[in-house]
Amino acid sequence: MAEADNDPTLAGLRELPSLDALMNALDARDMTPGWIPRERPILTPEMHSAFVPAHWRYSEARAAMQSAGRLIGTDLAERRNFVMRNPVQGNDFATLRTLICAYQSILPGEKARSHRHSPHALRVILESKGSFSTVNGEKTPMETGDIVLTPGWSWHGHGHDGAEQAYWFDGLDVPLTQLLEPMFCEDHPDGWEAVDTVTDHSPMRFIWSETLAALAAAPADETGHFGTTITLPAPTMPSIALQVHQWPAGWTNRPYRHASNMVYVVMQGEGQSTIGDRTFSWSYGDTIAAPAWNRISHQASADTVMFCMSDEALMRWAHYYRIEALA
Ligand SMILES: [Fe+2]
Repeated sequence: MAEADNDPTLAGLRELPSLDALMNALDARDMTPGWIPRERPILTPEMHSAFVPAHWRYSEARAAMQSAGRLIGTDLAERRNFVMRNPVQGNDFATLRTLICAYQSILPGEKARSHRHSPHALRVILESKGSFSTVNGEKTPMETGDIVLTPGWSWHGHGHDGAEQAYWFDGLDVPLTQLLEPMFCEDHPDGWEAVDTVTDHSPMRFIWSETLAALAAAPADETGHFGTTITLPAPTMPSIALQVHQWPAGWTNRPYRHASNMVYVVMQGEGQSTIGDRTFSWSYGDTIAAPAWNRISHQASADTVMFCMSDEALMRWAHYYRIEALA
């Protein structure tokens, strides 16, 4: 450094005549002073999600899926899905900052060829008898109420041997992958991946009856925020936390806010949730997006089972997580 102090080519920078001259010199070198005011401050007193609370009705998506099944074939839309775009300006796909969700449907006899991608994915099966997925050579059924995992970079495809149109919810961490930029994606070289094993039981599949049994055995929620809760183990996709809540008819929670983005899918029941300043009445299959740090209150008007995917594990891992009880 001592040598640089004597470098005559740096003398002009060492002896700038004014603050304006300093600003110009920094600007020319792609540096900005940390002390200037900015349109978006680097640090803020508390978090504020750019995304808004939102709700999508399964009954509407399902009806539109029937049109899609008639209007577009798997030659043009091999995965026939509707992305739930958060309605904020400039956003065309993300449901929340880290998560993307879609409704997807498949007709009897259709197949979607195998592919793999770095984003982690899961499905909540809303209506299906006879559809199946193949994940890394393992073929498992997708029946109503199942939750199916496709961890990042695992081959996956699906098909339908049943007689009725099948529907499910897709959830992925695509916006997180795009933010961090490790996006990779490829189609299987054989088109449809070969099936090595056929099984009902897999760490990639949480069966509805087993989810209900686990909820029945789960301890009471001491916090009052979440209701009876189980966590579904998904160690191969650590950026997405999977929980299932059970709320009896008449249950209301103790309101709270926390530093985690959450998407709910109604697996049973009906009720109302207020997320921030928006109130949504929900029923079977609906999706509700709760951006982080919005006040969350729920009321179940019928016995409810609510799936929840979130970035809570990721927030906790980074030591960003915090939670506050609210009135
Ligand atoms: Fe996929």
